[in-house]
Amino acid sequence: MSILVFGSINMDLVARVPQLPLPGETIQGSHFTTSPGGKGANQAVAVAKLGAEVALIGRVGEDGFGQELMEHLQRFGVDVGAIATDPHTSTGIAQILVDDRGQNQIAIVGGANHTIGNVELDQLKQRLPQAKILLLQLEIPLPMVIAAAQRAKAAGVTVILDPAPAPDALPDELYSAVDILTPNETEASRLVGFPVTDQDSAAIATETLQNRGIDTVIITLGDRGSFCRTPTEAFFTPAIAVDVVDTVAAGDGFNGAIATALQNGQPWREAIHWATCAAGLCCTRSGAQFSLPNCQDVDEKASATSSKNR
Ligand code: RIB
Repeated sequence: MSILVFGSINMDLVARVPQLPLPGETIQGSHFTTSPGGKGANQAVAVAKLGAEVALIGRVGEDGFGQELMEHLQRFGVDVGAIATDPHTSTGIAQILVDDRGQNQIAIVGGANHTIGNVELDQLKQRLPQAKILLLQLEIPLPMVIAAAQRAKAAGVTVILDPAPAPDALPDELYSAVDILTPNETEASRLVGFPVTDQDSAAIATETLQNRGIDTVIITLGDRGSFCRTPTEAFFTPAIAVDVVDTVAAGDGFNGAIATALQNGQPWREAIHWATCAAGLCCTRSGAQFSLPNCQDVDEKASATSSKNR
């Protein structure tokens, strides 16, 4: 059984700057790189690097970035057979600034990600019988996210949604089609309508979101850890201490690791600690897909930190 990812593929245009600019301010950067990204593609690469079988369903443009991104995905071990090429639209890009503290600011131009449609839904339908888990994010049209979640749910496949980039609200159809929701604190605050800033507010927010129809809610709180509420337990997991270089794709690494851990049958507390280690390690390197850790690194980090953290 494999993991499916339905979502975005971007080329990340990354500039390192001393600090993030204020509106209207021009600042001098130090380095510029292009590197493969996109929340959907990053989740797929995270899963592949952690050793599980994964297929990505998405779309790129018929241009140099699209071709390069496909090559990277294949090299990482992602099944790209369900990625379409759109001759009329450019490949998605993300303009990313990363400051000296590792914080980032991202602006995306969706391009081909925004033309995802029935072709991709057909690909999903064909692949659902061999799948156990579907990973979703919000960088593609919302009606496609809803349709994909509903089809997967009807096929008995577990649906994980990272509601990123932060939406103002989620439609009711999505609450009833998603099994596991993984917002960060900003996304969670928007969804519940009150600030989610710490363990206590995250505990209340997970309950609020669960009452809207989601089985399991995991709110990530950056370097403060995460709060998880399943139908049977609710618990906090601390973050691991790392030297942060850049936090880009940490959330994607977390989601990919949660899917892989659940596919491997890990119980919830262990799965979240393992995913926390994957996300933490991702912050120690720059870039999105290049920074995602492999299985051995996550296993080692998880055993080195498990007694301290749980
Ligand atoms: O989550 C990180 C990703 O967000 C980047 O790779 C960028 O492409 C944006 O989609």
